[in-house]
Amino acid sequence: MTTRRADGSEYMEWAKTRSQARFNLASSGVAELPTSELPIRLEDVELTGPSFYGYPPLQERLAKKAGVGPECVVAATGTSMANYLALAAFLEPGDEALVEEPTYGPLVDAASYLGAEIRRFPRRAEDAFAIDPDRVESALTARTRLVVLSNLHNPSNALVGEEAMRRIGDRAGRVGARVLVDEVYLDALFERAPRSAFALDPERFVITSSLTKAYGLGGLRCGWIVADPSSARRMWRLNDLFGVVPAHAAEKLSIVALDHLAPIAARAKALLDGNRATLQRFFDGRAELEVPRLQAGMIAFPRLRRGRVDALCAVLREKHDTTVVPGRFFGMSDHFRVSYGCRPETLAGGLEALGAALNEIA
Ligand SMILES: Cc1ncc(COP(=O)(O)O)c(C=O)c1O
Repeated sequence: MTTRRADGSEYMEWAKTRSQARFNLASSGVAELPTSELPIRLEDVELTGPSFYGYPPLQERLAKKAGVGPECVVAATGTSMANYLALAAFLEPGDEALVEEPTYGPLVDAASYLGAEIRRFPRRAEDAFAIDPDRVESALTARTRLVVLSNLHNPSNALVGEEAMRRIGDRAGRVGARVLVDEVYLDALFERAPRSAFALDPERFVITSSLTKAYGLGGLRCGWIVADPSSARRMWRLNDLFGVVPAHAAEKLSIVALDHLAPIAARAKALLDGNRATLQRFFDGRAELEVPRLQAGMIAFPRLRRGRVDALCAVLREKHDTTVVPGRFFGMSDHFRVSYGCRPETLAGGLEALGAALNEIA
């Protein structure tokens, strides 16, 4: 159990100040869609509009995308604010949050900042980071208010299937806890994406997502929460303490993006499919890396069998102007995370650098 209260996110600070490089294989997400590829007309962009508890035309589209009523949707500034609002709605100081380990750092840090006591349940590399619902159950206590996980999993990309998700929900329900599922990577499965966890039990599951990762639209900051209507109202009220209202121009642009999501998704899928094949060929030739076969998504989390990941990252950064995410940010210092949503030439250059750096530290 961690009790020291977070006062920021070490990972986010690193991502903002240290991950930029010529060959950046650290930043996850599909390469940004150029603004010129969004069919925007100037009259589509207004600076001010009737956005109070949501801008109705955007609410309608987000609700349609999520397959729920607009009363279940809370629009937010990216999955980041969506996560924060969802955590704040369910966690009081002293409550327990049971968070997957490893996970995306800001999820733990935000819960900790809110005064929650953080317990962890393991997702083990030897199980390909699958969740064992029995392990979740044995880490639950009467004070657990929220179970927190990501699906697809950041950092490993593992998918939690419907049956396991249902069982996690059942176990959490026994102590009256909700389950927050960060689904920001789920759309990267495209036509193979399973139903959102919210569909399994709207009273138990709360989900967060955005257009950031799977569509290359991070700049829009178009995020959302899907929750039961009463929790959604609580989040809207909390948002009055945080963001109050979003940038209306971004809402208007988000509508354009949501109305053209099919071609945007097709571009992203083609990019990821090509890059995944390239990365798999690279992994196939590197015996010192242990990593499950790539099947979908945009991140991989190899284990370095020999040598130190910190040394590898230092060589990559200093000699090759290349970055990956060191596993220490996920509490697994023998792993590192490679993102492959970037442009193919960035991936090619980054992998050449990674190959050279692996040879150098051998
Ligand atoms: C699991 C997870 N959730 C949320 C985010 C942040 O997403 P957004 O850009 O939509 O705020 C990230 C970004 O890396 C992430 O990996």
